[in-house]
Amino acid sequence: MLNLQSNTSARWLQQVAEHLDQILIDHAHCEKKAAGTAMNLIFAYVENQELCQAMSQIVNEELAHFHLVLDLLNRRGIRFRRQTPSQYGRRLNDLVRKQEPQRAVDRLLVASLIEARSCERFDLLRKHLQDQDRELADFFGGLFESEARHHSTYVRLAKMYADEETVHARLKELAADEARIIGEGEALPRVHS
Ligand SMILES: [Fe+2]
Ligand SMILES: [Fe+2]
Repeated sequence: MLNLQSNTSARWLQQVAEHLDQILIDHAHCEKKAAGTAMNLIFAYVENQELCQAMSQIVNEELAHFHLVLDLLNRRGIRFRRQTPSQYGRRLNDLVRKQEPQRAVDRLLVASLIEARSCERFDLLRKHLQDQDRELADFFGGLFESEARHHSTYVRLAKMYADEETVHARLKELAADEARIIGEGEALPRVHS
């Protein structure tokens, strides 16, 4: 369903266990960035009405998620602050081709894969935290469905810029890159480390 080519390793859950505060702060930044990505797509493809409608809905939902994480941080006495981001998003965005319409396909598919990986990890967190932190487990469980839907929306919109077969072939290529990048891991504990 999520088109990912790898499962998150135990190494990441270890980072989560040791640095939950940093992961939660990064999560807030991720939701903010997700809203920004959808907004940028509106600016880039403003003539595509279907895309604009879908993206404005995603902007709203991601901002609502951002507020939810900020509230959670607040309840837990964690101050929201700037943090060095992971390299994951930048490395994926570097794979986007420069020429249209391939550029549109790639931007949408990269966004779809980031949604998919977040989704996979939220589900993992839900299971992992079930016994030790019920509030947090429920929190991540509550985000799973909308992030899965965002993944599908981005893939569907990519098909407005290339035929179905081309989109699936490219999604497979980018998913292989995504699996390689996330598999390398990063030293800083982040949602996508
Ligand atoms: Fe979100
Ligand atoms: Fe999302």
